[in-house]
Amino acid sequence: TAAQKDGYPHFMIKEIHEQPQAITRTITPRIKDMLPDFSEDGIPDSFFEDVNDITIVACGTAMYAGMVGKTMIQNRLHIPVTVAIASEFRYEEPVITDKSMVIVVSQSGETIDTLEALRLANKYTKKTLSIVNVKGSSIARESSYVLYTHAGPEIAVASTKAYTVQAATFYLLGCKLALVQNKMSVEEAHEFIQTLSEIPNYIEEVLAQASNVEQLTKRMTNAANAFFIGRGLDYTLCMEGALKLKEISYIHAEAYAAGELKHGTIALISEGVPVIAVATQKHVYSKVISNIREVKARGAYVTLLTREKEITDPSICDVHISLPDIADEFAIFEAVVIFQLIAYYTSVGKGLNPDQPRNLAKSVTVE
Ligand code: G6P
Repeated sequence: TAAQKDGYPHFMIKEIHEQPQAITRTITPRIKDMLPDFSEDGIPDSFFEDVNDITIVACGTAMYAGMVGKTMIQNRLHIPVTVAIASEFRYEEPVITDKSMVIVVSQSGETIDTLEALRLANKYTKKTLSIVNVKGSSIARESSYVLYTHAGPEIAVASTKAYTVQAATFYLLGCKLALVQNKMSVEEAHEFIQTLSEIPNYIEEVLAQASNVEQLTKRMTNAANAFFIGRGLDYTLCMEGALKLKEISYIHAEAYAAGELKHGTIALISEGVPVIAVATQKHVYSKVISNIREVKARGAYVTLLTREKEITDPSICDVHISLPDIADEFAIFEAVVIFQLIAYYTSVGKGLNPDQPRNLAKSVTVE
């Protein structure tokens, strides 16, 4: 049954390895002729017309998947996309009109703050859409439309496969919105969906590096703090990387936009502090590299993720993880798997149980 570990020592590592299938299950029924198609979900194309702005509302990992979705969709659509923490949104004056789309993201579909945020949004717009993993859950029932993710049951408290399928769903959604709103040609959409459908294979390649990641985490287990830095989509991903590490290894971890380091966090960099840097986005690559030089000069122990086979100047990092080459927009799917593995092996290396972190619950249905 799904609730067995299938020979893996923990559910979390099993679920990390299930990501290629989970993505395939989620996207395949929604791809027709290499274009996004939500007809089986019963969503008419008219739902994607007349969208002036988008607000994405969620908690925790689902909110960080929303951050990726925001960056991707805003870049493609050139309309304002906001990510709101559900527990904040529900007590604010929402800036939402009947032309606003509100996308609510939740693995369980039962998180109370997210559900209440949806109820509030429903008062302002009919364009509410949920991205939910659990069939028939409250959030799925109360939104105008639902796109179910097909991660299968996620048992480990720290979310992994639910995050990647949520992100993949945002990519389908972004492509659909861009097509309907004439922001993307059919040819561009073909290429986009083609790449999206190859993601599971790329993730398999990344998973093959798991034992290298396990090696590098040997130095993480003694750390009190760790920093994740990147720019653009990589930065959105760093937030999830830091959360994963905090949740299951109890190491204080912070995500920082690499260009913002000099305005604060760099004061915390001293000899041996682990910095995990991501530089997969070509247009800001050299900028991230110079930020890495700044932390390296202050003694940081740098793990660098890029899509280059080799770094021109290997002295800028202590460990280099080379990701399979892929279009910039899609590199997040590779890098996040490395982050999940870093968190998992650090937790195990510290003798902790990654499946059952202290003080955390899988689903938070009380306030
Ligand atoms: C809890 C879990 C997190 C999860 C969050 C939102 O805090 O520990 O892993 O991201 O709830 O859950 P949801 O089911 O709404 O995605």
